[in-house]
Amino acid sequence: MKKLMAANWKMYKLAGEAGETAAALRARLDGKLPADREVLVIPPFTALGTTGQALAGAAGFALGAQNFYPSKQGAFTGEIAPDMLLDAGCAYALAGHSERRHILGEDDAMVGRKVGFGLAAGLAMILCVGEKIEERQAGQVEAVLARQLAAGLAEVPADVSPDKLAVAYEPVWAIGTGLTAGPAEVADAHKVVREHLIERFGPQTGAAVRILYGGSVKLGNAGELLGIDNVDGVLVGGASLEAESFSAIVTA
Ligand code: PGA
Repeated sequence: MKKLMAANWKMYKLAGEAGETAAALRARLDGKLPADREVLVIPPFTALGTTGQALAGAAGFALGAQNFYPSKQGAFTGEIAPDMLLDAGCAYALAGHSERRHILGEDDAMVGRKVGFGLAAGLAMILCVGEKIEERQAGQVEAVLARQLAAGLAEVPADVSPDKLAVAYEPVWAIGTGLTAGPAEVADAHKVVREHLIERFGPQTGAAVRILYGGSVKLGNAGELLGIDNVDGVLVGGASLEAESFSAIVTA
């Protein structure tokens, strides 16, 4: 499967600017995208239209959403439904990003509902997992990942297609801090995730589901990270906001 190179624009960029950045990204990468790379752009909701228009028809590019509420429609003021995201051109969505878990108070059970509901609605889901610094210092990395994976994947059907599911390992202490997990830390965590996926979905699907790394990915470390066993892509925040820096990461 292609390496998934994802740009998480978080709560940055007005619609016009997002469209311009996406167009600049396309101009830099169209026709030059390595055959083993797929680009995913995840803008704020209000910029899905302009970003989607800028990327329309470009081979190897996809549009994604940062969040949704796990219901078809209803009285959920302020929320957005998977069908609305599909309608806006999204193929992917994130669930369980650490900022949603730790700032917005999303718990494991809600993350699991989102992954299951999003898949059933037709979105490809990226489940984000990762430990806090105090959990790493207490030797709890494996336990935290096991808990987040068990709950996050609880509603995923056993016969899920591997191109519809990915896991992003994002140690909370490495997000937006400039700190990146070292190669050994990344390899160890990704192995834990891989083993869990194989146990949960069997050797074939478990081996094929992509595991992304996220947390202060930049041009200077992307190549090394992508060379680590079980690193099947990256989820990039800060360094994805400029077309120049993200396109360089995509081809790293
Ligand atoms: P960062 O964010 O690259 O700015 O650390 C990554 C993420 O939160 O997905």
